[in-house]
Amino acid sequence: MNLLAGKHIVLGLSGGVACYKAAELVRLLTRAQATVQVVMTEAAQQFITPVTLQALSGRPVYGSQWDARPDNNMAHINLSRQADAVLIAPCSADFIARLAQGRCDELLSLLCLARPAERVPLLLAPAMNREMWAHPATQRNLAQVVQDGAVNLGVGCGEQACGETGDGRMLEAEEIAEELAAFFSPKLLTGQRLLITAGPTFEAIDPVRGITNLSSGKMGFAIARAARAAGAQVTLVAGPVHLPTPRGVRRINVVSARNMLEAVEGQWDAASIFIATAAVADWRPAHNAEHKIKKDGSGAVPSLNFVENPDILARVAQSPRAQAGELFCVGFAAESENLLQHAQAKRARKGVPLLVGNIGPATFGQDDNALLLVDAQGHRELPRASKQILAQQLVAEIATRCRRP
Ligand code: C5P
Repeated sequence: MNLLAGKHIVLGLSGGVACYKAAELVRLLTRAQATVQVVMTEAAQQFITPVTLQALSGRPVYGSQWDARPDNNMAHINLSRQADAVLIAPCSADFIARLAQGRCDELLSLLCLARPAERVPLLLAPAMNREMWAHPATQRNLAQVVQDGAVNLGVGCGEQACGETGDGRMLEAEEIAEELAAFFSPKLLTGQRLLITAGPTFEAIDPVRGITNLSSGKMGFAIARAARAAGAQVTLVAGPVHLPTPRGVRRINVVSARNMLEAVEGQWDAASIFIATAAVADWRPAHNAEHKIKKDGSGAVPSLNFVENPDILARVAQSPRAQAGELFCVGFAAESENLLQHAQAKRARKGVPLLVGNIGPATFGQDDNALLLVDAQGHRELPRASKQILAQQLVAEIATRCRRP
């Protein structure tokens, strides 16, 4: 399910350099099949023109409460009644102050005040200089606005247009779109603490070489993102992959299977759900050379001996909390053939209530996948779809099976 499809978003821009990011945000939201109605303050129009935003949103932009285009001449009422959400991005320090005071002397703050608050949420992506952000007046105003029911999406940290560095940058357009989608996600995992492994592991041969596999980590990262959107607190133990951390997810980077086990053991006491999506190397070289193994010119090739890695999933599944039903364990199986048979056998061998099978070579590195869910009752297919959609479906399946905390 594309959580933004069919949603009608009123995107309000107040004044700030980050207005340029709003153009990209409109593209992302419309690409996700949301409709976007842009409303700009006068200050925002100093930074970006309504022409650009009209072209990108495909709708006339509103900028004045005196705009006579609506038949009833009440843009603030019409715009706010049609919205599934009002999103202010960028939300300036001044605009937060206006919201805190309930000011309504221009269209954007007027429609925020006029919106039916119980069914039209207000989300804010603040953007300002770090000193303005840290100022007690801004923080006081923001706390008031949040207490009044608005959702603060938070700010980024880094280089600012003014040349300073710190908190207060507006989130990137992709992060805001992700937050908005998460906002609309059903909160099926509220109160759950999810621990998930993802990606490959890397088993060193010497300081410059090692053995790994083709797992991209995309499925595990998608599940982490979907679970967080569904209200879970998520810790993601990630092997070596170059994927951005989903917003609101705590990430622990690891390299080898033994590192991964250590990280999981450090977290499993607090978890209520464990999902093992990582493609953990089954074996590692018995010896990890301290220095690079050199060719000696004789043509002799080194031989490698292997030892078995610990089975992280099996260990977690056998832990007392998992056995007592306090920790719900989900395993994955990447197979190349006979998926159902292998998945059923693996479920029994690992001792987990739910095992998710997929065809490894058909999905490694891809953005889509097809899943086969195997449990004590039987099996169910989740047909080919994007990993993000499948992750949402899997999260919904897990929510029906695991105990509410
Ligand atoms: O044994 P196999 O690798 O086929 O099992 C796959 C499942 O077990 C996956 O969920 C994977 O994350 C997990 N696993 C593990 N530790 C290992 C090997 C696999 O957690 N050493």
